[in-house]
Amino acid sequence: MSESAAKQSSSLLDWYAAMGVDEAIGDAPVDRFAASAAAPQPQEPLAKTPRPDPRPASKAPPATPPKAKRPAAPPPQANTPAPALDGIKTLAALEEAAAAFDGCPLKRTAKTTCFARGSEQAKVMLIGEAPGRDEDLQGKPFVGRAGKLLDKMLASIGLDDTSVYITNTIYWRPPGNRTPTPQEIASCAPFLTRQIELLAPDVIVLLGGAAAKSMLQTTEGIMRLRGKWKLYHAKDRDIPVLATLHPAYLLRTPDAKRYAWRDLLMLKERLSTLQ
Ligand code: URA
Repeated sequence: MSESAAKQSSSLLDWYAAMGVDEAIGDAPVDRFAASAAAPQPQEPLAKTPRPDPRPASKAPPATPPKAKRPAAPPPQANTPAPALDGIKTLAALEEAAAAFDGCPLKRTAKTTCFARGSEQAKVMLIGEAPGRDEDLQGKPFVGRAGKLLDKMLASIGLDDTSVYITNTIYWRPPGNRTPTPQEIASCAPFLTRQIELLAPDVIVLLGGAAAKSMLQTTEGIMRLRGKWKLYHAKDRDIPVLATLHPAYLLRTPDAKRYAWRDLLMLKERLSTLQ
């Protein structure tokens, strides 16, 4: 193989790995183009002949029916509902239940279940979007570049793994680090709800738009949501919640760090009233 062909193959493999294609599932490659060309082509559908309306003229719809208003989209549903989780009394048992749960399709492509890191006694719970490549490899949230920045941000207001508990809206890495779909988030939501109940934090911090939108049940953008105290309605109480910018966004947009800094100061101030 020439040097440039080897380079190209290696770049292709890097790209596959970044997209989440990192496991061989057969001994020989399959040419899907050839297979689909050989498959029988679907027949042209028969032209539809209008059937006479059997209803009396008075019941028949008018020639041009008025345009129906499109019904509001129903809230996203998980494909397979999570089992009842009320009987689970510890975070360790909940982590086991999440690892055994097959209702989120992302689990099939992820390497590990990435549940949480930090202290189970923490007053501050942080919720990010989804595990990335490093998190998938290590099975812990926020351990890659964005996680390193998050740790620095927390340290700047005197917090670390002994005083925070960190998780994500979903526990499995979406291939290629794409944003999780509302259905994927919905499939993990019962676990996250129970996780919040069991941890019982004094404050929740939402990292980035995906976490903020799903936890606050809104379509508003993160720039509008951030920097304002809101309430998360847990089963037995309301928990103050603050949305802020995602550390991965701050890595790409260092100018926005000043907003995150303001949010961190708001968090620090709030925590000082709890001691
Ligand atoms: N981004 C997230 O939202 N969560 C992680 O765990 C890592 C990166």
